[in-house]
Amino acid sequence: MSTGTMKKSHSQWSSRMGFMLAAAGSAVGLGNIWKFPYMAGEMGGSAFVLTYLLFMFIIGLPILVLEWLIGRRGQKNPIHTMQDVAVSEGRSKLWGWVGIIGVLGSFLILSFYSVIGGWATDYIVLAAQGTFEGANGGITENLFTNFLGDVNSLLIWHTVFMFATAFIVALGVGAGLERGCKIMMPGLGILLLALVGYAAYASGSSFWKACDFLFTPNWSALNGTAILAALGHAFFSLSLGMGIMMAYGSYLGKDVNLLSTARTVVILDVIVAVLSGLAIFPLVFANDLQPGSGPGLIFVTLPIAFGNMAGGSILGILFFIFLTFAALTSSISLLEPTVELLEEKTHMGRKTATIVTSIIIWALGIACILSFNKWADVTLFGKNIFDLLDYLTSKIMLPVTGLGTIIFAAWMMNQKRIREELNLNAFWFNIWTILTRFIIPVAIVAILVFGFFPEGK
Ligand code: PFF
Repeated sequence: MSTGTMKKSHSQWSSRMGFMLAAAGSAVGLGNIWKFPYMAGEMGGSAFVLTYLLFMFIIGLPILVLEWLIGRRGQKNPIHTMQDVAVSEGRSKLWGWVGIIGVLGSFLILSFYSVIGGWATDYIVLAAQGTFEGANGGITENLFTNFLGDVNSLLIWHTVFMFATAFIVALGVGAGLERGCKIMMPGLGILLLALVGYAAYASGSSFWKACDFLFTPNWSALNGTAILAALGHAFFSLSLGMGIMMAYGSYLGKDVNLLSTARTVVILDVIVAVLSGLAIFPLVFANDLQPGSGPGLIFVTLPIAFGNMAGGSILGILFFIFLTFAALTSSISLLEPTVELLEEKTHMGRKTATIVTSIIIWALGIACILSFNKWADVTLFGKNIFDLLDYLTSKIMLPVTGLGTIIFAAWMMNQKRIREELNLNAFWFNIWTILTRFIIPVAIVAILVFGFFPEGK
């Protein structure tokens, strides 16, 4: 088989552990800590959680494995990887489009992801200043609304966050991405355990209420909306469909076992999401707050809890550091595909490629910031710029790239070779084939159709 496209100079992860932490770092992010708990809160708790878990394993895991597998074959940025692998399988170069949409998706997502990362960073400072002390719902709500109206603050924190992201990426795959995640991921684990421990200790019986809320299935709460939201979130949460995992796979050596590594990454991602729920909901219940309060859960609801409990300030600081770290290990992964592309296809070195890409993304982020205030009425299809970017990427580009990847991998690539590479016995290979050829594509089409006609449900 032709692997003639391999470039010897291409960077590589220094160890399987380093790769795993970087991939887990990409997966674990705002999606787990900010989005997952509020989605669970809005969509009936446990029934949503269990559905999400199921999708993570039967749909997310195979796609994760295939993105890595394709990336490792191609050894290039996602666009040229898709082209080269397609050609080596005797298919059209046009498959490169899957990579193009993916890279563009990661680029666009980072513009608003960095803005929210900036909120998290600002909230570390607010917690440290004791701003939440004694706060009630009105106060924290005002604080957040005023923050969203304050262009300068938003801009400063978006800039800080984007700068940190660019700094790590500019250092390269080993010294930047891998080392950053090796430092931040264990820190994140410790912070999370401390937060859950504190929530269990400080909120008494509310901890069990939170467990009940998250784990006791209440199937009547599960409707079409919740099922599709769980499916879409499984994608977002594993950073699939944006060329990210393909780019990460391109730095991967032949000896790494993709299935077992993917299993570990999925398990870590799920554990962080569930533990985040266990850190947040006990505080919500103990303070008689609403679990279904939407995106404001972390920035509006939780500060009330931090402001009214013993040791709440420290807890608040820890929590927002945790959130910022998690966001940062994901934002670096969002920057990587475009930087890899520029580095390989232009004369730019890695540093220049990082700076150029970051400045453009940063500028786009300013448009997102303005959509919360000065440009709030600038809308297209009834959505402001922030919502439009979110919609375009998560609801359209991500599933389209995901669908392209799975159809390519399951229908266009040599299946015998994939089976050998994954070391599957006949039984598991049959299951794999049913999942990748039929169940996953149908599920993705469902997300896409639902994205277009949400009110139909
Ligand atoms: N997986 C990250 C999270 O859950 O926050 C977000 C993310 C990172 C999404 C990278 C998409 C992506 F390509």
